[in-house]
Amino acid sequence: MADLSELLMMEHSAIRILSRVSYGKDSLEAFEDFNDYLVKDHVEVEERILFPVIVDFEWNDRRDFEQTVNRIKADHRLIETLADNMLKWKRSGNDDLYDLRMPLFYKTLTDHNLSEEDQIFPRWKKLEAEDRKRALKEAMSIIVETGLDRYSRNTGISREFLAYMDPGGSGSIP
Ligand SMILES: [Fe+2]
Ligand SMILES: [Fe+2]
Repeated sequence: MADLSELLMMEHSAIRILSRVSYGKDSLEAFEDFNDYLVKDHVEVEERILFPVIVDFEWNDRRDFEQTVNRIKADHRLIETLADNMLKWKRSGNDDLYDLRMPLFYKTLTDHNLSEEDQIFPRWKKLEAEDRKRALKEAMSIIVETGLDRYSRNTGISREFLAYMDPGGSGSIP
């Protein structure tokens, strides 16, 4: 069964492609939509589900690992602030500043994603299958609650794909 780390890494793959075209460069709506997905789905699933579960394990280096996770987690605030500022500039007609910061936004985001793939996600498979399954189920509920259409628009992951991955079996994905 596919697991939550894999789902999040698939989302990172979509973000890497989007970053190459500076997604949202020509449309404020597209950037708002992407940022909403990022904050309310992707980051929410990491902070509320994956990070607490992966830290709460008897690692030999638990203290160091917890610090690593907290450091990487702090990037989320930086990325959010950057996006909030860009949205503010674009809405007030300061297109130049918006365009100027766009590459920095995607660079910060994709570097952050790679550090998760390098320093956090590889440990996921060491956890008990039951814990991973429960986490995937909880992540799916967040994704469903916040709206599957926006999620699919920004990740390219179809509801059929999600239904296939769903540990709750058919029915949980509307
Ligand atoms: Fe993240
Ligand atoms: Fe991530």
